[in-house]
Amino acid sequence: MVPRNTVLPRHIGIIMDGNGRWASKRGLPRSAGHAKGADVFRDICRYCEQLGIEALTTYAFSTENWTRSKDEVDSIMNILRRYLKDAFGLEGETIRVRFIGRRDRLAPDILDLMNEIEEGSKDNPGLILNIAVDYGGRDEIVSAAKRAAVLLRDGEIKEEDITEELIDSYTFTSCCPPLDLLLRPSGEQRISNFMLWQCAYAEFVYMDVLWPDFTRKDLDAAIEEFGRRNRRFGGR
Ligand code: FPP
Repeated sequence: MVPRNTVLPRHIGIIMDGNGRWASKRGLPRSAGHAKGADVFRDICRYCEQLGIEALTTYAFSTENWTRSKDEVDSIMNILRRYLKDAFGLEGETIRVRFIGRRDRLAPDILDLMNEIEEGSKDNPGLILNIAVDYGGRDEIVSAAKRAAVLLRDGEIKEEDITEELIDSYTFTSCCPPLDLLLRPSGEQRISNFMLWQCAYAEFVYMDVLWPDFTRKDLDAAIEEFGRRNRRFGGR
């Protein structure tokens, strides 16, 4: 647990990276890394809920991940399918689960399960858990821009109505507090097309631990680091 007076981020984003390297180091197939990563994901969701974090957004599958081998894409989709069937093992908890990303390229059974889980948890009062599947930050911004363009074309809005607030309201996370902390384990230091719009004033914490080895203590350390940051939001 973090010390009681720690300033908590309201919204945390996590790039769950390093599954493949974790598996290779052990001579296991990459799918084993994703399976262990999915278990860690579930535990960290529960922990965020316990800490009182308002929103958690995790990167499970990007718009670019389709270019991985068919075997690997299938294994990630199968893990997702299994977790969806089990409602992420979070049934009975107060977490509200949402899926963010494109919905036009996923298998119909996965889409049905996603809709079921979203519907079943939509009134839950606890942590908002956004799971990014077939998600890309650029894709999200393009969709928001297209939506504004259509309204402008149809005369429903004027050019001056296209503001940051309007575009923000068209992002997947418009129901969440602003992103405070972006966490990337595995030693890589880049955004990889995750939450580009929302990252504007997020604090970044990079950690060397691979995602399948990530523990509650690592999250504590990241939150404590966040609490020490001096946030100025472009001001003085
Ligand atoms: C990045 O590691 C991880 C992914 C592309 C997939 C993340 C998927 C999961 C954690 C499992 C499914 C998720 C849920 C929500 C049940 P990498 O493969 O790029 O690792 P590497 O950089 O070491 O190769």
